[in-house]
Amino acid sequence: MVAINQTDLFKEIHDTNSLPFLKPSEERKVCLISGANSGIGFFATLHLYLHGWVIYMACRNEDKTRKAIIDIETEAKKRVQDGSISEQFKGFGEMKFIRMDLTSFESVQKAANEYLSVETSLDLLINNAGVMALPHIITDDGYEIQFQTNYLSMFLLTMNLLDVIKQTPNSRVVYVSSIGHYFAFRKTLLINTFNWAPNFISTWFRYGYSKVYGMHLMKYLSRKVEGDNLFMSVHPGFIMNTGLYDYWLQTPYFGGAFSYFLKHFGNKLGLSNEEGCMPLLKAALSPALGPSDNGKYFAEFGRESPESKLALNENASIEEFVWALEQLQRKGYLKDTKA
Ligand SMILES: NC(=O)c1ccc[n+]([C@@H]2O[C@H](COP(=O)([O-])OP(=O)(O)OC[C@H]3O[C@@H](n4cnc5c(N)ncnc54)[C@H](OP(=O)(O)O)[C@@H]3O)[C@@H](O)[C@H]2O)c1
Repeated sequence: MVAINQTDLFKEIHDTNSLPFLKPSEERKVCLISGANSGIGFFATLHLYLHGWVIYMACRNEDKTRKAIIDIETEAKKRVQDGSISEQFKGFGEMKFIRMDLTSFESVQKAANEYLSVETSLDLLINNAGVMALPHIITDDGYEIQFQTNYLSMFLLTMNLLDVIKQTPNSRVVYVSSIGHYFAFRKTLLINTFNWAPNFISTWFRYGYSKVYGMHLMKYLSRKVEGDNLFMSVHPGFIMNTGLYDYWLQTPYFGGAFSYFLKHFGNKLGLSNEEGCMPLLKAALSPALGPSDNGKYFAEFGRESPESKLALNENASIEEFVWALEQLQRKGYLKDTKA
């Protein structure tokens, strides 16, 4: 494998046909993706399905996910019929639902166990699900909601699946971070801090920390795990019309104005949902990526991108790993895992 060439990657960006297609009857590759039922996760799943992957969609809402499966099947058939898919297309993959609510460690553990009861390998784990800029809510497990959803639960899932990931040749783990990780400005083990008024400012710090912690986990594993596995983070770009803004759309006064703004200008200002899934797909599937890309961060259009100073802080990533593991072990999870 060769190190990624930025120019090649840029050329690939709108041409998912250049990414390898599997022949499902002969070659079985498995992905587990969270947040697959909407936004950029929906389109990432569509492309993986078109590329012949078996996809476990780890989502909290079964009805929404079953509807997404039908919509993806319909869209995929349409694309094959209208010829927009390469001649390399060798057959559709398969989509399966796994229930997982990231605000509950128990639910995450169940999802991991369910996966491990039916599969012995994992070629691709995409930690995509996330929430942004919510009020200061504490989950039943006792953590701030963005912190648990975007980081601690993702940590629990990834560490539960790490053995099968390590055993699967050339497997990859992709964490969907955000440029918002720049909101985290100094090293700290945030638990329930950054809860000052007004929330509409402090919530962005909580979001930023949750995302930088996720990047740190990828970096930590990229250094720690020996083998040909890759651990990477991405920022998808600004995609205004996903479910990420739902909370803000429902707030009195501001919600109405924001909704009007998104309706009329959202698509013009940001990327489409499908464009937003591209960096994630590149990190997941590009054959141009190799060992020298382990631990990297790619931003919109798959460009390798600068990261905050804190994101690059190796000591912080080690301290957080030890801390998060201890928190989860105290609650009875990851008993056999060592830092
Ligand atoms: N949109 C942007 O501009 C942008 C920018 C930077 C980073 N990102 C990141 O991109 C990722 C995808 O976001 P998106 O924009 O595609 O938004 P989205 O449409 O809201 O997708 C988020 C997904 O996460 C799922 N999710 C949220 N909380 C969950 C929980 N407790 N348990 C299980 N699943 C949960 C949602 O499920 P439900 O459908 O059930 O709610 C949904 O499927 C997020 O990590 C986000 O932080 C987005």
